[in-house]
Amino acid sequence: MSSQLNSVIPVENTSPEIEKYEGIFHKDVIEGLNTFPKKLYSKYFYDPIGDRLFQDIMHMPEYYLTDCELEIFRTKTSELMDFITSDESDFDLIELGAGDALKSIHLLTYLSANNIPYTYMPIDISGNILAVLGDTLQREIPTLDIVPLEGEYFEMLDQAMKISQRRKVVLFLGGNIGNMNMDEAQLFCAEIRRKLNSGDIIIIGFDLKKNPQTVLSAYNDKTGITSAFNINLLNRINRELEGNFDTQYFQHYQSYDPISGACRSFLVSLTNQQVHIKGKSIFFKENELIDMEISQKYAPEEIQRMASLAGFQLLANIEDSKGWFVDSVWRVS
Ligand code: AVI
Repeated sequence: MSSQLNSVIPVENTSPEIEKYEGIFHKDVIEGLNTFPKKLYSKYFYDPIGDRLFQDIMHMPEYYLTDCELEIFRTKTSELMDFITSDESDFDLIELGAGDALKSIHLLTYLSANNIPYTYMPIDISGNILAVLGDTLQREIPTLDIVPLEGEYFEMLDQAMKISQRRKVVLFLGGNIGNMNMDEAQLFCAEIRRKLNSGDIIIIGFDLKKNPQTVLSAYNDKTGITSAFNINLLNRINRELEGNFDTQYFQHYQSYDPISGACRSFLVSLTNQQVHIKGKSIFFKENELIDMEISQKYAPEEIQRMASLAGFQLLANIEDSKGWFVDSVWRVS
């Protein structure tokens, strides 16, 4: 993903929308910290500081996901195009959480260079990001027909279905599906399937199970960037929700279970402490955890199963040269 996918504040939106957003953020934080185990949602990592930290993560030598998927989009572009154009009719190419289109731009360029007629419909929650993307694409691919859609994935997908009757090709890249647990991911895919028509295609980026040390190192860097990325959410709560977390008393802890494929981030309270958020107090026991994020890793069999259960036919798993990441191509069956 880029800042992109989970960048949740619509920067140039009207203030009622920002207020609504802050209300939901507040509610999610209070509810999450009053459940057991305590939980915060990783979609809130992406404020401007979190966006910058995520850029730093993507440049870390240990964080292989971005490079692997970029390699697929650079070197296997014709294979991707063949699956997309095997049905020769015109189509809309919809990207969920398009961000800066770092990877998909290679596909867009290739399709355009091959005179394939299509409309690109990037979906992102941030109108600001879509505006920047529109400018970049106009410079890079002047002939591109682009219809940006600002909002939530499912709502904007509904809108895309109304805008045209053309068949749809949906991209959901970056391993973002991994930030849902497997049950949530299954429901997400089934919901997308319900919105699409027979013959439509979706391409989803999955990070694969691999040497457990490789996975763990990608999320447990010695430089502490991933730790700062997690801690930033506490600082964000301090900034935006009148919180008073003292972040020196929280420590990042990362785990990876190579059997289930769940790579999880936690923050551990280093002492008994009381935190206030907009006047509400929350007690943390020493060693109590906050569940921050899951980055689920998949076996090819699990991807196959997810596709079938959601009502898709898996056409291909397109891998990078190390075999660490796949873009899985599914057609509505
Ligand atoms: C955005 N997402 C796919 C990243 C991941 O790999 O789960 C977020 C991330 N969290 C820590 N490092 C990167």
